[in-house]
Amino acid sequence: MKTILITGGAGFIGSHVVRLFISKYPKYKIINLDNLTYAGNLENLRDIEKMPNYEFVKADIIEGVTVMEIFKSYHIDGVIHLAAESHVDRSISSPMEFIYTNIIGTVNLLNAARAAWKDSPENDKRFYHISTDEVYGSLGETGLFHETTAYDPRSPYSASKASSDHLVRAYFHTFGLPVVLSNCSNNYGPFQFPEKLIPLSINNIKHNNPIPIYGKGENVRDWLYVEDHASAIDLIYHRGITGETYNIGGNNEWQNINLIRLLCRIMDKKLEREPGTSERLITFVKDRAGHDLRYAIDSSKVRKELGWKPSLKFEEGLEKTVEWYLSNEEWLTNVTSGAYQKYYDEQYLKR
Ligand code: NAD
Ligand code: TYD
Repeated sequence: MKTILITGGAGFIGSHVVRLFISKYPKYKIINLDNLTYAGNLENLRDIEKMPNYEFVKADIIEGVTVMEIFKSYHIDGVIHLAAESHVDRSISSPMEFIYTNIIGTVNLLNAARAAWKDSPENDKRFYHISTDEVYGSLGETGLFHETTAYDPRSPYSASKASSDHLVRAYFHTFGLPVVLSNCSNNYGPFQFPEKLIPLSINNIKHNNPIPIYGKGENVRDWLYVEDHASAIDLIYHRGITGETYNIGGNNEWQNINLIRLLCRIMDKKLEREPGTSERLITFVKDRAGHDLRYAIDSSKVRKELGWKPSLKFEEGLEKTVEWYLSNEEWLTNVTSGAYQKYYDEQYLKR
C-alpha cells in the first residue's frame, strides 16, 4: 500500500484531487495535510472523510520540523503539493504570507522528501508540484504559453509560485529528487472559494449585489473545469516523466466581460428571472494593480504524450457549476458567514 501526501487537500482543487484519489485508488493511503487557512474547508470533503484510506492532518508547511516529522511517521511514498496562498488580490495587499507558504513551505516539503527518500531506489518515489500558468507572465493578443516559455511573473502570487517551481527543479537537478511539475490555467467548479471571479459573481447575482469587473473587463483567461485538472493531475502523477513539466489548459479563452455576460444569462435562466436582469448588476471598478492582460496555455504536450483531454465544454461546465452553487446553499452560507471554520473543532477535535 502506497502512502500519498496531498497538501492543500481542504482547498478548492486539492479537495477534488483527494476525492478522485480516494475513490479511484482504494489501495493508496491518502494523507491530507492542510493548515485550514481561510481557504481550507473540511466541509469540501464531507462525503469521503470517513473512508478507511483517508486521514486528515492539520499542519502548517511553514513549520519545517513538523513537516519532517510527518514524513517520518507516515512513510510517505509520494507527494502531490497543492497547498498555497492562491489569490492574486490578497498577494497584493499581503505579500508575506505568499512568500512563507509558497516558497518556504515548498522548500520544507522538498527537504523532508529528500531526507526521507535518500536511500530509496530510483522511480519508487515522486514529488509532484502543482503550479500555475501565471508564472509565465502576461501575453499580448496572440501567442500561447509553452513549457519552454521564459518565466516572467508579475504579481507577488505568481512570483512566489515561480520561485517554488525553480526550487523544485533545483532539487531535481542538484539532489536527484524525483520531481514532476504542471502549470495549469484558471480553474472553476464546485467548492471554489467565493473570492475568485466565477463563484463571487454567482453569489453576488444570487443576492442581487453588484458584480465587480476590474478595469474594462478585457482581460483574458483560459478556463478549465476543476475535475479536468484533477484528471490531468492523476495522469501526470502516475505517468509523467520525472523532471518534466506539463502545461494544462482548456483551449478556452474568455474575456472577463464576455464570460460574465454568459454567466448572467445562465443565472437568469436558473433563477427564472427576466433575461437581462443579472447583466444590470455588472459594475466596472478600479483595475487590479499590475493586472495581467492575457493567459493562454498550449497543452499539446500533456494531450499528446499522456492522452489527456478536458471532458466538458465551457458552457456545460459553467452551467454545472451554477447548478452546484445554487443547490449547495448551506456550503455557500457557511463559507460567507465563517461558520465553516468551526467544522474542524466540532468534527475532529471532539473525536
Ligand atoms: P485554495 O486557496 O483553494 O487552497 C489552498 C489550500 O492550501 C487551502 O486548503 C489552505 O488551507 C492550504 N494552505 C495554505 N497555506 C498553508 C500552509 N501554510 N500549510 C498548510 N496548508 C496551507 O487554492 P486552489 O485554488 O485549490 O489552488 C491549489 C494549488 O493549485 C495552488 O498551488 C495554486 O497555485 C495552484 N493552481 C490554482 C489554480 C486556480 O485556478 N485555482 C490554477 C492553477 C494552479
Ligand atoms: P481570479 O479569479 O482572481 O483569478 P486570477 O487572477 O488568478 O486569474 O480573476 C480572474 C479574472 O477576473 C482576472 O482577470 C481578474 C478578474 N476579476 C474581476 O474582474 N473582478 C473580480 O472581482 C475578481 C475576483 C477578478
